[in-house]
Amino acid sequence: MSVEALKQQIADVEAEARRLIEGASEGSLLEDLRVRYLGRRGALTQILREIGALPPADRPALGQLANACKARLEARLAERGETLRRREFAARLQSEAADITLPGTAPTLGHLHPITQTLQEIVEIFHGLGFIVAEGPEVELDFYNFEALNIPRDHPARDMQDTFYVSDEVVLRTHTSPVQIRVMERTRPPLRIISPGKVYRCDADISHAPMFHQVEGFYVDEGVRMSDLKGTLETFVHQCFGAETGVRFRPSFFPFTEPSAEVDIRCILCGGSARLPSGEGCRVCKQSGWVEILGAGMINPAVFEAVRYDPERYTGFAFGMGVERIAMLKCGIDDIRLFFDNDLRFLKQF
Ligand code: PHE
Repeated sequence: MSVEALKQQIADVEAEARRLIEGASEGSLLEDLRVRYLGRRGALTQILREIGALPPADRPALGQLANACKARLEARLAERGETLRRREFAARLQSEAADITLPGTAPTLGHLHPITQTLQEIVEIFHGLGFIVAEGPEVELDFYNFEALNIPRDHPARDMQDTFYVSDEVVLRTHTSPVQIRVMERTRPPLRIISPGKVYRCDADISHAPMFHQVEGFYVDEGVRMSDLKGTLETFVHQCFGAETGVRFRPSFFPFTEPSAEVDIRCILCGGSARLPSGEGCRVCKQSGWVEILGAGMINPAVFEAVRYDPERYTGFAFGMGVERIAMLKCGIDDIRLFFDNDLRFLKQF
């Protein structure tokens, strides 16, 4: 090939390569171009080889020309590569940017179940009166649930509570009163105990659930009197429902207390008037103006005998209340089953 033709070829190759380099839109394309023009079999390399075949006198000038072209193309490739890298980096910064001025999405926080809240509130009040917490098993021996509480096997009081039997001797406890026996069996007076927990009865409707919660309380010492029971429970009612809430004690019967009482409070919904502002009769107190909240009494001497306390020396009071009932009254809920449906629309209101 003639010197002139080679010169022209170098110029053509350079022009074509420059055009393609400027047009490359990605770093990886530049590498292809480098191979195509400057690689071992690249167009410019081919030309350099042909220069080697020229007469010696022509070689230096053309060699210089070709090498200078190669240097310029390398410089262009490097420059274009740098430009593309910067552009790609800027685009990445754009697309991965986080707008830290946007409001965050807070994780949704749960809270305690309304029954747990009520239970804790009840326990707190008695804690303040000097009672301490003791717990007992939910699967209980017949002896603790009934026998030692002065409810023998053929006693009609057993029908009052629809018991879930596990076996002849083992039941799901029907109340928290067996904790009285368990605590008295292993400790001596003075005792001021509060005992929250689950209890079970075979019963289910709008106001009964097969599992519900009770809080048991009892106080045993020398000289404990009915007036101590009344004062303690009145204080509880006033702290739990408000200082203005009326309280009354009605005679009742439990085999493990004598005398026994049921405690009512003035109806929270109608304020004791038995009528709602609309004129309609109050459903909560069944138009009596009062609602029962707990059972109580002076511990029966027969119970002291079962735990070998001297009934001549010690007296005591005991009471037991249903936590769901207290929560329903406090929150104005009329169906106990709402507590156990776990419908978040209900639970979130507490
Ligand atoms: N255990 C009784 C019940 O479940 C409540 C109670 C407890 C009554 C203590 C008197 C004394 O109904």
